[in-house]
Amino acid sequence: MTLRQQEEGLKYAENAFKGTSSHLNLDKKLISENFDFTGKKILDFGCGMGGMTLWYAQNWNCEVVGMDIDPNHIEIAKKLHAKYNLPKVRFELRNVLENPIQDKFDFIILNDVAEHIPLDILERIIVQLKACLHPTGGIFVSYPPWEGPYASHLNHDIALPWCQFLPDSILRKMMKKKNRVLVGTKTLMEEYYELNHLNHQKLRRISKKSGLKISFRKSHCKLNKFNGLEKVNFNKSIFKYLVTKELVVLTA
Ligand SMILES: C[S@@+](CC[C@H](N)C(=O)[O-])C[C@H]1O[C@@H](n2cnc3c(N)ncnc32)[C@H](O)[C@@H]1O
Repeated sequence: MTLRQQEEGLKYAENAFKGTSSHLNLDKKLISENFDFTGKKILDFGCGMGGMTLWYAQNWNCEVVGMDIDPNHIEIAKKLHAKYNLPKVRFELRNVLENPIQDKFDFIILNDVAEHIPLDILERIIVQLKACLHPTGGIFVSYPPWEGPYASHLNHDIALPWCQFLPDSILRKMMKKKNRVLVGTKTLMEEYYELNHLNHQKLRRISKKSGLKISFRKSHCKLNKFNGLEKVNFNKSIFKYLVTKELVVLTA
């Protein structure tokens, strides 16, 4: 990782932790409106550069383990942690399929992670995470569903909602022009082609096969900002194309 990428990563992570304009503010709002992690022990699986990990710990004074498979992300997360030094946080570089987790957690959070993992591997990971849950715990999966306007993850570079539905040859050309190495180990195009096109049906299938049930679902879209519509789940028929974020809880 170059020094410039490291600085870019730290800036991103710090903004995710403390900033007011981060796109993660929606995640923070949705999570804090719906859950209370006060005093709990949390696994932030796929913690990335650690901004949200520190935010969970600070917001609820809870113990958080941030875990990721990407060494560059964990390096940045550790640097961020060294700056703010929250005592109940630690970060771990781990591939859980090669090196299973032995610990137990009240909650396991996958924020913007599940859509990046091939579905067969995601299923194996969910089975393992289930074994690390306390009996009353839950696995929180939040992700932009594939039908939604920003599911391509290309919004910063190609500001065209639903561009994942363009013919691949056209989108590929657009991506090639903007391609760059992201902080971590991948390029913009690599990250796009690794997306697993996750949606609610696919997640439901995986949770069923893993012996878990969906005990909570919030589908967020821009219509929720209008008075009286805040709590409505617009996820049926064509409304599913408006959903920017699904927040789902899997329990035993
Ligand atoms: C888009 S980032 C999300 C980071 C963070 N959760 C957040 O909300 O800011 C996705 C992260 O998932 C991690 N990831 C992907 N596959 C993984 C796996 N098999 N095990 C652990 N982490 C994984 C990636 O390395 C990356 O850091």
